[in-house]
Amino acid sequence: MRPVSIIGAYETRWGVLKERTIHDLLAEAGAGALTNAGLESEAIQFIYLGNAFAETLTGQAALASVAADAIGIPHVPGIRFECACCSGAAALRDAYLHVAAGIYDFVLVAGVEKMNTRPMPEILRAIAASFSQEDQAAGIVAPAVFALYAQAHMAKYGTTRAHLASVAAKNYANGLLNPVAHWRKPVSIDEILASPMIAEPLSRHDCSLVTDGAAALVLCPAESAGRFQTKPINIKASAIAGESYKIACRDSYTSFSSTVRAAAAAYAAAKVGPKDISAAETHDCFTITELINLEDLGFFARGDAAGATQAGFTSRGGALPINVSGGLKAKGHAIGATGVGQVVEAVSQLRGEAGVRQIDHLDLFLTHMLGGAPSVSVVHIFERGY
Ligand SMILES: CC(C)(COP(=O)(O)OP(=O)(O)OC[C@H]1O[C@@H](n2cnc3c(N)ncnc32)[C@H](O)[C@@H]1OP(=O)(O)O)[C@@H](O)C(=O)NCCC(=O)NCCS
Repeated sequence: MRPVSIIGAYETRWGVLKERTIHDLLAEAGAGALTNAGLESEAIQFIYLGNAFAETLTGQAALASVAADAIGIPHVPGIRFECACCSGAAALRDAYLHVAAGIYDFVLVAGVEKMNTRPMPEILRAIAASFSQEDQAAGIVAPAVFALYAQAHMAKYGTTRAHLASVAAKNYANGLLNPVAHWRKPVSIDEILASPMIAEPLSRHDCSLVTDGAAALVLCPAESAGRFQTKPINIKASAIAGESYKIACRDSYTSFSSTVRAAAAAYAAAKVGPKDISAAETHDCFTITELINLEDLGFFARGDAAGATQAGFTSRGGALPINVSGGLKAKGHAIGATGVGQVVEAVSQLRGEAGVRQIDHLDLFLTHMLGGAPSVSVVHIFERGY
């Protein structure tokens, strides 16, 4: 296996983008990443495309071919990766493996989702397709699943709604500094606590946004990266793990075992531990998820993430900045694009190009996505390659 670098990274604005099609979004993201890499589109040998819901929400399938057409290389083959919220991160992992194995030299990874095409109940049903037929028949939708985890975490560790609100307030504050973020309005803890209840104890402000957007990356062997990019970012580790997609068959309701195992594999591959990570983007699909993720990734002991978040430890100026992009709560959650968008933030931060939201003293940056019911996790670790 040879080392792999990211030489190009770009994301569109995230939001309710009524006027934009999937083709438009992919055209902008793909062209942006290629320009950022200083590479002609003809050099791309394969496209790895993350997308979860295009058939259901837009009527379009064969998304990798749409991406190829959108960036002007319709003859270039590609594959669409679908594992719910992990779709984009899984696409990156496969791209990484193929370049590392020497099969391709220059590849494009993209993620896209156009979600705001239907009334909210239909979007919620589309997302619920990731759950088992039995769980869907029982009326399960995403906020209800994560509410079960929140209730279990509260019962076991004394986590409160105020703790959950501190996650949302932090990520809203981070989103204020991100020009591409879906949500750029300050929201106070009181407003979060007073927002309409969606699934007890999760209120509307505990839920991620329903977002349209796209992101793209260009990968190549690290040995070639310097020819194109003065600030290549290396993929130090890439790991994936799964668990049962049936809600009644989980190992735990206060932890996602796929995250624990993906993180362990990533740390082993990178020969580092959680204490070596400087900052992370993690899957805050609901506020409780961020707290559980922080414990599953080994950043905090079980039950300690809530207090640490409230104390500012994970804020932009804290010891371990988490979701400095605004995360799924404020930058937004364009499902199949989110895992790629996280990496655009990692690249931007590691290059020192994040402007007003730049974090100081960065060494290793971790990204984490949790997808499915949730039944799969993907963890990547990045470092500067220059
Ligand atoms: C919470 C949720 C159900 C929407 O709630 P809703 O009350 O039906 O939202 P509506 O579409 O009726 O919008 C009502 C208002 O709430 C706002 N809003 C909607 N979702 C919001 C969210 N997640 N956070 C904050 N505000 C939100 C809208 O902008 C709108 O504001 P306006 O009145 O100022 O225009 C929806 O956002 C959701 O399901 N989010 C999670 C998505 C998800 O599961 N993703 C996958 C995770 S694994």
